[in-house]
Amino acid sequence: MLDGKKTLFSGMQATGNLTLGNYFGALNNWLTLNEEYQCFYCVVDLHSITIRQDPAELRKRARALLTLYIAAGLEPVKNCIYYQSHVSEHAELCWILNCFTYMGELNRMTQFKDKAAKHSDNINAGLFTYPVLMAADILLFQSDVVPVGADQKQHLEIARDIAERFNSIYGDVFTVPQPYIGKVGAKIMSLQDPAKKMSKSDENANASIFLTDNPDTVIRKFKRAVTDSDNQILYSEDKPGIKNLIDIYSSATNKTVEEVVKEFDGKGYGDFKLAVGEAVASILKPIQNKVEELNKDKAYIDGIIKDNAEKAGYFASKTLHKVQKKIGLPERIR
Ligand code: TYM
Repeated sequence: MLDGKKTLFSGMQATGNLTLGNYFGALNNWLTLNEEYQCFYCVVDLHSITIRQDPAELRKRARALLTLYIAAGLEPVKNCIYYQSHVSEHAELCWILNCFTYMGELNRMTQFKDKAAKHSDNINAGLFTYPVLMAADILLFQSDVVPVGADQKQHLEIARDIAERFNSIYGDVFTVPQPYIGKVGAKIMSLQDPAKKMSKSDENANASIFLTDNPDTVIRKFKRAVTDSDNQILYSEDKPGIKNLIDIYSSATNKTVEEVVKEFDGKGYGDFKLAVGEAVASILKPIQNKVEELNKDKAYIDGIIKDNAEKAGYFASKTLHKVQKKIGLPERIR
């Protein structure tokens, strides 16, 4: 809660090419929430450097992600869209919260284990304390709600534990956040291996739909999606490939799973895959057009970057000062 209005925070990493998983698991759910909440959507560029990045590429991707937030439909007047690195309170609060987080808790994080296995040549301390920076992001804005995909649930739980621990020592300093995980689309799976989540870093480009994919590519990737040898459109754990495609179609069309199954009763996989591809392409194309249009207006995006960092900084510094005072850091004179 900030200034009497319920608050929402979420973010995405500026690494790799965003996938349909990022879109349906998170971004798409963000679009309608600004009526009810004061919304902060961050490009979490500090999180991105837990894995080695090419500097020019990181800068480019961060800007592309911020532009994509707007192109997807987040209105910058109603949503505070900014870079994490432009609001230094994130890193400052992270340090403080590091001192209220246990190694044992961080050791249990499955994402850390996965990433450490993948980047065994660079298991840096930032990768380990990644969830603490994420907790700082969320708690800095006294967030009531955090809309994310299912893979971030464990990180949300640790953010809640840190907030509760801190509050139990110093009183009600932080709002304890609730995750908001959509009913469909919370876990979009790989098109080539439906046991794995769709991921930006998948080496097989056919496994993921990227938000930058053109309609032909989207349709081709869905045609090649791994399914089973049965030819019935049924929503079942035994049919993970088709189940994933039903989830995607349901997210893309706002139809319930039951409606989708009914719509394709008696039809085969070929028809269904084409329909999923067309539905997804028809969502991505207008976003891609809007990105192109926004890219022509550098001054407009620059203005958003500046104004929103100031706005986020204003709220962030309020929380940080409160925390600094509570824990006994000397008051600033300057
Ligand atoms: P990131 O950048 O990996 O993913 C961004 C969002 O996309 C969701 N997502 C998915 N949802 C459904 N199916 C998938 N296959 C899929 N892949 C990704 C993620 O759940 C996420 O919501 N640590 C976060 C970024 C972060 C953050 C925060 C999020 C940093 N600070 C504070 C919320 C609040 C991350 O790496 O997300």
